[in-house]
Amino acid sequence: MKGTFPIEQFSALRTPFYYYDTTLLRDTLDTINREAGRYPNFCVHYAVKANANPKVLRIIKESGLGADCVSGGEVRAALKAGFPAHKVVYAGVGKSDWEIELGLDNDIFCFNVESVPELEVINQLAAARGKVAHVAFRINPNVGAHTHANITTGLAENKFGIAMEDMDRVIDMAHTLPHVKFVGLHFHIGSQILDMSDFVALCNRVNQLQEQLVQRHIIVEHINVGGGLGIDYQHPNRQPIPDFAEYFATYHKHLKLYPGQTLHFELGRAVVGQCGTLVTRVLYVKQGSHKQFAIVDAGMTDLIRPALYQAYHKIENITSEAPAEAYDVVGPICESSDVFGKAIDLNRCQRGDLLALRSAGAYGEIMASGYNCRELPIGYLSEELK
Ligand code: LLP
Repeated sequence: MKGTFPIEQFSALRTPFYYYDTTLLRDTLDTINREAGRYPNFCVHYAVKANANPKVLRIIKESGLGADCVSGGEVRAALKAGFPAHKVVYAGVGKSDWEIELGLDNDIFCFNVESVPELEVINQLAAARGKVAHVAFRINPNVGAHTHANITTGLAENKFGIAMEDMDRVIDMAHTLPHVKFVGLHFHIGSQILDMSDFVALCNRVNQLQEQLVQRHIIVEHINVGGGLGIDYQHPNRQPIPDFAEYFATYHKHLKLYPGQTLHFELGRAVVGQCGTLVTRVLYVKQGSHKQFAIVDAGMTDLIRPALYQAYHKIENITSEAPAEAYDVVGPICESSDVFGKAIDLNRCQRGDLLALRSAGAYGEIMASGYNCRELPIGYLSEELK
């Protein structure tokens, strides 16, 4: 089954562009609020890195979610969209001084700190402002996730976080620094995770670490388990809203919280992935010796996921009902990896047809680049095109 799109309105727009179905986005946000709301101590932040289109951010902010940022630019984008600073968490292995200062000046909820030198700099910069920064330590839990190697983050070999064996030392150090307050532990094992047992493994690890801390009479205010819940790229229409009930129930069941603790989540892909589509026009149909190519006007500059992670995005010809034929769908960029899919069955294509690359709401528009001096794609909301 194809997705349904306002083809007439599309015809008037310059391609390629991103299209966001805001009914689906709002339904997804309602589901998150309903399912997380069953557990009064759960707080959900939206991982801005997945999509920072200001119109999308504003809708997410209206739902009441907090924001998870990984750069000063993201902190600015979140604040500009109206996310309250006290719901902003800020992670990242390499925070520049101005980025830390931005967080301090706005009194954000928490810095997720990834190294000792960073902790020292935060302490210094907070001292200069007469403030006390709230910090959580991002602990690398050495838990693998069944996902693509480029998007797994919780293994000892990855650059992220503080090694588990260093946790005690870093906490001791924080206690000696007057301008930081150690308030939480942060984790994130990877992205596009569909196997709940990966999250169970994380819960077990968090429980172990908390037991160690309790022995030292330390109970942190909050635990942040990051994001990572995946979406169904193969069948975008089958269950467009991920199973948040199962996701939150998994944490409720397996993660042991101590009295007064809150549990924070940083979900990106699961929030915005399915509501976004990259719409592109067929420029040429080229017959090769063994196959045919549909050459489209979108390229890896507009959606880099297939080239970077060999990611699958379902492709549909939304303007043709002609019998299907197989095509390699390729972009115009001067790189052999500028391929969206090989031997893809599409309703017979001709010049001018519109193709939809589905499930592109997360890590699509935001990862676009100007390589080959191309213009960045524009993002439209469904409610703007009515
Ligand atoms: N929290 C932290 C600390 C993260 O590093 C990430 C994603 C998230 C939360 C949100 O993860 P999500 O819920 O979206 O899985 N560009 C890649 C994905 C990179 C993910 C980076 N970190 C892709 O297109 O698949």
